[in-house]
Amino acid sequence: MSEKEPIGVVGLGWVGLVTAACFAELGHRVIGREIEWDKVEALQRGELPFYEPGLQEIVERNRERLEFTTELEPLREAGIAFVCVGTPPTPSGDADLSAVHTAIEELGTDGPAVVMKSTVPVGTGRQIKTRHPGLTYVSCPEFLREGTAVSDFLQADRVVIGADRDDEPAADRVEAVYEPIGAPIVRTDVASAEMTKLASNAFLATKISFINEIANVCDEVDADVTEVARGMGLDPRIGPRFLSAGLGFGGSCFPKDTQALKILAGNSGYHFQLLSSVIEVNDLQKRRVLSKLKRHLGPLAGNRIALLGLAFKPDTDDMREASSLVLASRLQGEGATVSAYDPFAERNAREQLPQVEMAASAMDALEGADAAVLVTEWPEFGDLDWEEAAKRMKAPLIVDGRNFLDAEALRAAGFVYEAIGRPGANRPR
Ligand code: UGA
Repeated sequence: MSEKEPIGVVGLGWVGLVTAACFAELGHRVIGREIEWDKVEALQRGELPFYEPGLQEIVERNRERLEFTTELEPLREAGIAFVCVGTPPTPSGDADLSAVHTAIEELGTDGPAVVMKSTVPVGTGRQIKTRHPGLTYVSCPEFLREGTAVSDFLQADRVVIGADRDDEPAADRVEAVYEPIGAPIVRTDVASAEMTKLASNAFLATKISFINEIANVCDEVDADVTEVARGMGLDPRIGPRFLSAGLGFGGSCFPKDTQALKILAGNSGYHFQLLSSVIEVNDLQKRRVLSKLKRHLGPLAGNRIALLGLAFKPDTDDMREASSLVLASRLQGEGATVSAYDPFAERNAREQLPQVEMAASAMDALEGADAAVLVTEWPEFGDLDWEEAAKRMKAPLIVDGRNFLDAEALRAAGFVYEAIGRPGANRPR
């Protein structure tokens, strides 16, 4: 048994399970508590409820250090407990904090120190401390990305730890458990820690909407957004990352957190104008593909369109706020038939896209299609036999919604190639 202090994790969704597994990897005994019995039973058998690269291996390697339970009692062994429950948006756009409040009530003021990982509105920590005098509370927002969560945890850019003065000893304990990963630690107050999380996601979402608008202008003025981003990104004040134009951002975080920050600002009397535009640009970006298709096909009714990829990004089976959902519905709204292939997200996608014909391979999805749209940049699409694909399709037209494919190779295979913000990509240089 390890000598490091046992750690509690409340809520074994994606954040909770990654957190639990990675602390076990760092040598801690971890008690993971989840209310859904099915989930706990599956985890006890070593089955993960979602796909995250590298996580299965870590869970297997640390089986002895990981305890999964529906009980509260075992958590009492831990000095600190990371709360990792969901905070989905309510119809008003505010975050639903009911799972957070239940977790706090269950842990109680005499239990382990509460370390909030769930993304919550700024001010939540203060409210909780007022509601529960004597509670030890630390804010420690998560910055993990789906698909790279394990390395994001173990090689974090930074760890933000926010606490009131009287909770400094608990914050020290949180800092100590993160110490082995060697990341810069930002010690601050609770509200600033909460805001750092929302502001980081809002800024990254802004960067994406900005480059998408540049791409839309590039389409009009015959410039290439990938060249523009390359030139911009070399300025260290801008940086090259999150400058890939495409079909807009999706997932469980950026759409929710940009909205949450906008609402939070609005509720406190400030109109966050920039963020409203970021959200609107993103909504419109998912639909722009239709006009590109129509330019070649005319009205879409009666056409068969193949979607390559459905997940909101590669290396995940997550369909939350995926651009494919809006795109497929819009195409069907115009009277097109939609076929699709995704190497991992098909099972999740099936429920949300019952009218879409799911294919067993990219080639099957392309069979007889009038056009294809690359929605998710899964690496296997880069290696597809595009000459064969051109023969299988009714007409070899593709809109590369992620500027991912080799335009020249596609042209050589006989395709009409359209991208996002690269009007020249379908002509020889
Ligand atoms: C995001 C943040 O990157 C994490 O730091 C944060 O912890 C997480 O949200 C969260 O709040 O939990 P994630 O949603 O997993 O992580 O995905 P990202 O890799 O950030 O991508 C989000 C979306 O932006 C995807 O749809 C992706 O396709 C899109 N994107 C990303 C672009 O369109 N262009 C880019 O240049 C980068």
